[in-house]
Amino acid sequence: MTKLKLKKQSKLGIIIIVGLIIAIIGINWTVNTIKQKQYEKSNEYKLITLGYSEKDTKTLLSKYKNKEIEFILNNKKDSIYINILKEKYFIYSKLYDYLDYYKDHDGKDLTSIVEIVNTNRHKEYYEDSKKTDISKKELMLVNKYYYLDETYEPQDLVKIPTTYAWGDYGSQQVTKDTYDAFLNLWNASHEAGYYLMVSSSYRTYAHQKEVYDQYEKSQGLEYADQIAARPGYSEHQTGYSLDIFEKGLTQKTFQDSESYLWLKDNAHKYGFIERYPEDKVNITGYTYESWHYRYVGVDAATYIYQNHITFDEYYAYFTK
Ligand code: DAL
Ligand code: ZN
Repeated sequence: MTKLKLKKQSKLGIIIIVGLIIAIIGINWTVNTIKQKQYEKSNEYKLITLGYSEKDTKTLLSKYKNKEIEFILNNKKDSIYINILKEKYFIYSKLYDYLDYYKDHDGKDLTSIVEIVNTNRHKEYYEDSKKTDISKKELMLVNKYYYLDETYEPQDLVKIPTTYAWGDYGSQQVTKDTYDAFLNLWNASHEAGYYLMVSSSYRTYAHQKEVYDQYEKSQGLEYADQIAARPGYSEHQTGYSLDIFEKGLTQKTFQDSESYLWLKDNAHKYGFIERYPEDKVNITGYTYESWHYRYVGVDAATYIYQNHITFDEYYAYFTK
């Protein structure tokens, strides 16, 4: 009797255990199926299905927002989405402009694409130009895409004594910061054996108009645009720019002098940059000006000098 009861009980136990196992397997299968179905809806799955490696998928998902992931999913697999992220001066908000430029310029390297788009060079000069943000002070950008109002005048202009500048006393002015920095630069250059002179500094809108119009009248618009800024578009109106060359030389001969080499390599220590270098014409939009220096402060100047970039690039990445 007890034996029979025991047998029955163990049979029931086995049935319960087997039932439980089947139930667990069933639940597990259902959960996994649901999970798989959900995963198939995920961007990770879609990216991998599109051909991106697991590593690239992780990168894409961690670096891009949903809107951009949707865009990537709606296009063919392309390594640009990963590679563009590795560019030193990649700016997220410019992604679609980089992609458009890349599409239209097959084979162009990504570093150049980022450089061009960051500095607006994918657009025509003076097309769609914007009023510059004067609150950035010595970091304000004035170029062929950013302008100053006709009425803009720096608040704190100081006169440069004739010891350091050509023309009558009072005809050469810069902002106070620029002047203080210039004096330090001048003293250091003097100790190095050079005598630098300022040939042009703050220029009003009206003065710049005269300069530009003169070139345009005598040499034509195309030439004028290469060497002079249109009124409102000149850095000279900021009060942060100086044209400098050594006493005894001319603007032209300065570029072959030792004093130029000294200035080129030391200006940043005092907050100045060579603004229109020989190898950056395509970005600055101006022919090489060995004499034109811009005060941007020591930090920006040092970065620009050490990384061999233009102020236009620096502004897009760090200041804007
Ligand atoms: N020569 C420089 C570009 C100016 O006119 O401001
Ligand atoms: Zn100049």
